[in-house]
Amino acid sequence: MSPEALERRAGAITERGLALGWTDGDFGHGKTFRFHGPDGHVFELYYDVEKYKAPEQLRPTLKNQPQKFTGRGVGVKSLDHINFLSSNAVADGDFMENQLGLRLTEQIVMDNGYRPGVWYRATNKSYDVVYTHDATGSKGRLHHVAFAVDTNEGIWRAADIFVDRNVFIEFAPSKHAINQTYFVYSYEPGGNRIEICSGGYLVLDPDWEPISWSEHERARGQFWGNKTVESFHTYGTPVV
Ligand SMILES: [Fe+2]
Repeated sequence: MSPEALERRAGAITERGLALGWTDGDFGHGKTFRFHGPDGHVFELYYDVEKYKAPEQLRPTLKNQPQKFTGRGVGVKSLDHINFLSSNAVADGDFMENQLGLRLTEQIVMDNGYRPGVWYRATNKSYDVVYTHDATGSKGRLHHVAFAVDTNEGIWRAADIFVDRNVFIEFAPSKHAINQTYFVYSYEPGGNRIEICSGGYLVLDPDWEPISWSEHERARGQFWGNKTVESFHTYGTPVV
């Protein structure tokens, strides 16, 4: 929100012993503060950004739109969330909450008290960052990156386009119980799992109490649709 806020976060992370240091910045943004989360994922925080300016042929008629509608391919609207795998989802979640100020929306609580899945929000969108337990015991891996489309029909369209272009579909269109997102999962050419998603909900209540799913409740599976594919529990990148 401000250069001072960036300095404050850098201070809090340094105090936690996870700092890697400052960089000079990169394409589209100024200097960044580099650090790693408890499980080893590398992050950068920045304040200065170069705002997008559409090229002449894509300039919008109305100035409250970023550019003309192109509707290419799946028609992705925005980057929605990132889901990391972690050898300790609780430690990573606590770090997001205590050092970065994110808030917990939903979580899975096992009978032994461990929380193998935690959904955090940085905005009113119900989740932006997720940590789920890595069953292989590896550290610092990625489960998936999700891109949002405008409508639920956009998910089916994405699936149609994947089949048409011989893109592997790992988990066919269904609906998540946790956070209620509609989805389809695939792998991008580099092997990372990606999700095309829509739906979900907004958290507008300032007194929101995190929703906890017990081991028994979680066993019910997805909201509706296909049974969770086996690779969903083990595949992540880098591959181990
Ligand atoms: Fe997701």
